[in-house]
Amino acid sequence: MYKIAVVGATGAVGREIIKTLDERRFPVKEIVALASARSVGQQVSFGEKQILKVQSLDKFDFAGTDIALFSPGAAISAIHAPRAAKAGALVIDNTSQFRMDPDVPLVVPEVNPEALNDIGRGIIANPNCSTIQMVVALKPLHDRFVVKRVVVATYQSVSGAGKEGMDELWSQSRALHVNDPMTPQEFPKTIAFNVIPHIDAFMDDGSTKEEWKMVVETQKILDPAIKVAATCVRVPVFIGHAEAITVEFAQPITVADVRAALREAPGVVVQDQREDAGYTTPIDCVGEDAVYVSRIRLDPSVPNGIQFWCVADNLRKGAALNAVQIAEAVVKRKLLARAA
Ligand SMILES: NC(=O)c1ccc[n+]([C@@H]2O[C@H](COP(=O)([O-])OP(=O)(O)OC[C@H]3O[C@@H](n4cnc5c(N)ncnc54)[C@H](OP(=O)(O)O)[C@@H]3O)[C@@H](O)[C@H]2O)c1
Repeated sequence: MYKIAVVGATGAVGREIIKTLDERRFPVKEIVALASARSVGQQVSFGEKQILKVQSLDKFDFAGTDIALFSPGAAISAIHAPRAAKAGALVIDNTSQFRMDPDVPLVVPEVNPEALNDIGRGIIANPNCSTIQMVVALKPLHDRFVVKRVVVATYQSVSGAGKEGMDELWSQSRALHVNDPMTPQEFPKTIAFNVIPHIDAFMDDGSTKEEWKMVVETQKILDPAIKVAATCVRVPVFIGHAEAITVEFAQPITVADVRAALREAPGVVVQDQREDAGYTTPIDCVGEDAVYVSRIRLDPSVPNGIQFWCVADNLRKGAALNAVQIAEAVVKRKLLARAA
């Protein structure tokens, strides 16, 4: 049984982490909910019976904590995750802060669990939500047919921008219906009934940081030789990210090969009936653990090309579930003492 701290417990990801720990019956001895000073005294529930009073992260002493699941934003993790690790807690961080640190493993348990063998800094990074679902689908295909190049366009829900992002879609949708004025705050343009080809900051080459994350994280997790071109788009969907993925392989591949490989793959569900509603949409995947693959077809524009549609709940497999699966893997492999 373990003492767990959830940092960012009042947020979209933190709440889902607490729910997932309970649903998966993680061996919790004690659980502490941490957030900013603004939320001290607020309550979050753990399971049906336990109410957790939110405590301030700033004042919390991590000594005696076994695992700290962080999702308070990169700038806050930068300060407090190393502090927690130094106090002996194994940190699993959902933010972008440590993902590309060569001394921090970036882990999707179905894809690269071997990366857990070296947790030198006592911190494990959870990848970006869009990267996670893509690499879960690519891994079984890469193992058999060798992925050379990926072109992906994302359709990312507003919950990827946290609770404020969800509130903004809700309030803008309402304002549009009743003709109220609205000023975009969380997103650079109106998100209600719109799509925005801009997530995170612009980089010097014209791509966005979200797109860059999909490139470098895929290479770190799966294979540095894979070329990735990404376009990341925010869409007016509350929960669930979708991706249109085109893959070029080194070896000949058929649609039947893809179906067979994905049907056996852990964490993947193939729903591909080639008829009305015979595919998965974001609304269908809310609250679900799997990465769903639909619309599998040949890309006739290149040799060995395949296209498919990939959907997952960004708060679950894209964040909370992946983090809890990492915690489960750490416990199963008896890595807690080694990390400390
Ligand atoms: N949403 C996703 O799909 C997703 C997926 C993967 C990774 N992530 C990453 O996870 C992180 C959190 O995302 P989210 O969607 O959960 O955001 P969110 O809904 O805005 O929640 C942010 C959480 O961080 C806490 N926090 C903010 N400032 C803090 C401070 N100074 N000290 C302590 N706690 C503080 C907030 O507490 P208060 O309520 O007290 O402000 C809240 O609990 C981000 O880095 C995000 O990039 C998100």
